[in-house]
Amino acid sequence: MNQPGSTPAKDKEKTTKDYASYFQTTYQPPSLKDAKKRGKEQINIVKDFAVDEDLKKIGAGKKFYIRTYGCQMNEHDTEVMAGILSDMSYEATTDIMEADLILLNTCAIRENAENKVFGELGHLKPMKVENPDLLIGVCGCMSQEESVVNKLLKTYDQVDMIFGTHNIHRLPQIVKEAYFSKERVVEVWSKEGDIVENLPRVRKGNIKGWVNIMYGCDKFCTYCIVPYTRGKERSRRPEDIIEEVRHLARNGYQEVTLLGQNVNAYGKDFEDMEYGLGDLMDEIRKIDIPRVRFTTSHPRDFDDHLIEVLAKGGNLVEHIHLPVQHGNSDILKLMARKYTREHFLELAGKIKKAIPNASFTTDIIVGFPNETEEQFQDTLSLVKEVEFDAAYSFIYSPREGTPAAKMKDNVPLEVKKDRLQRLNAVLNEISLRKNQAYLDTVVEVLVEGESKKNPDVLSGHTASNKVVNFRGPKHLIGKIVKVHITDAKTWTLSGDLADEKAGVV
Ligand code: SAH
Ligand code: SF4
Ligand code: F3S
Repeated sequence: MNQPGSTPAKDKEKTTKDYASYFQTTYQPPSLKDAKKRGKEQINIVKDFAVDEDLKKIGAGKKFYIRTYGCQMNEHDTEVMAGILSDMSYEATTDIMEADLILLNTCAIRENAENKVFGELGHLKPMKVENPDLLIGVCGCMSQEESVVNKLLKTYDQVDMIFGTHNIHRLPQIVKEAYFSKERVVEVWSKEGDIVENLPRVRKGNIKGWVNIMYGCDKFCTYCIVPYTRGKERSRRPEDIIEEVRHLARNGYQEVTLLGQNVNAYGKDFEDMEYGLGDLMDEIRKIDIPRVRFTTSHPRDFDDHLIEVLAKGGNLVEHIHLPVQHGNSDILKLMARKYTREHFLELAGKIKKAIPNASFTTDIIVGFPNETEEQFQDTLSLVKEVEFDAAYSFIYSPREGTPAAKMKDNVPLEVKKDRLQRLNAVLNEISLRKNQAYLDTVVEVLVEGESKKNPDVLSGHTASNKVVNFRGPKHLIGKIVKVHITDAKTWTLSGDLADEKAGVV
């Protein structure tokens, strides 16, 4: 494993100007080239995480604020960092103005995600000028990018700490160094094969919980930065995952979401056993917790055993997020998704057959290099054929260091925007139609809280992941109740509390 303070990656000098020499500090820069290397090195499972005695009180009387920009994985990392900071006696605050320590947990997936962070750093500058003792840190996926780190070091001197996704467990030492040395601290390990098991967590809420089942991604889709920012695929041992899910169940959680960038690759890195996601789900379904979800699936690795297990139902919910990305096989090939349109359709058909009431959601990219109108039409026709319940649609954004970034980004922005709009119109029409099918049925809703728009209304999700709003007493929050659906919109269903004895769809 790389150690902080060790010799920086050797190809560093080939990158843009290196600002490390400006700072006498721990400097471990990221290297996209190193991040790409996937060795066969042993995955170490570290189980002895603890905050050093001398750091346990370092945050006494101080408050922290973490802003999260990324996916569920990032949100969950925020929960871990909140846990570590709490172990250092920091107190959480929701008011950034009263924070002594601010962390921006960033996302690098598209350029606009990055721009938001640079914008926020601009807003934070006056706070730092007014209060030089304020510590500001940038972590998450952006800090894994060399160009971002260099930019931060060059133009954002309000940033005291930059640390990567593999360095979260080093937070106590990083904060200590930032406080006491008053130097900027940069610690970003590029390659990581480790799993740190016993990290503390302060979870958001006590109804739904996230559980990592694996880290990293080895798929290297040509447009995607994640394999570089999150390291190689490594699976947690089933017994550790099962224990964490049991722990959540014992503590009254109603739902767990198993997390990984490509959960269908779960277990492929085990050398001592043949054990995959299907096997894991088959064990987790026996745990007494009402709902179990998982995300994100990759169509290439979605195997028959998993479908068989999911079809057993019970607490395994009938919702599958299955990103297709595109409807044309040539573009899928350029994306290195390693499946064709036909394979995807066959898989979706197989899942629908095994789980007839399954709801499907997906991710779609428009405007990938060289995408023609005809190829885009293939995406539209695939969407119509599968009838996704909902989808996240994105305009392609070139990411430095990825293979696609070397292709000419030759679809004009206006065309990309137009395709996105046309795609969304089709998606929305299908979503509305799918939601209307729920009219006059009774569904089970896990009540998660008050509706964002109206505190008199409660809001939650069905097992199929539909948002349902209804009027009801607050004590229902955290419970699964029956709701009679009376109205269906594109994004939400609404209805009235139904009799406990009502039959559900
Ligand atoms: N691991 C998941 C999703 C990761 S990122 C998967 O494999 O599906 C979430 C979504 O962001 C992706 O599914 C993709 O649709 C989108 N995305 C990733 N890189 C992108 C890029 N460079 N430009 C636009 N969208 C991108
Ligand atoms: Fe990115 Fe592809 Fe990995 Fe998903 S599977 S995280 S899209 S490289
Ligand atoms: Fe973004 Fe990193 Fe997640 S790039 S989508 S926060 S894995």
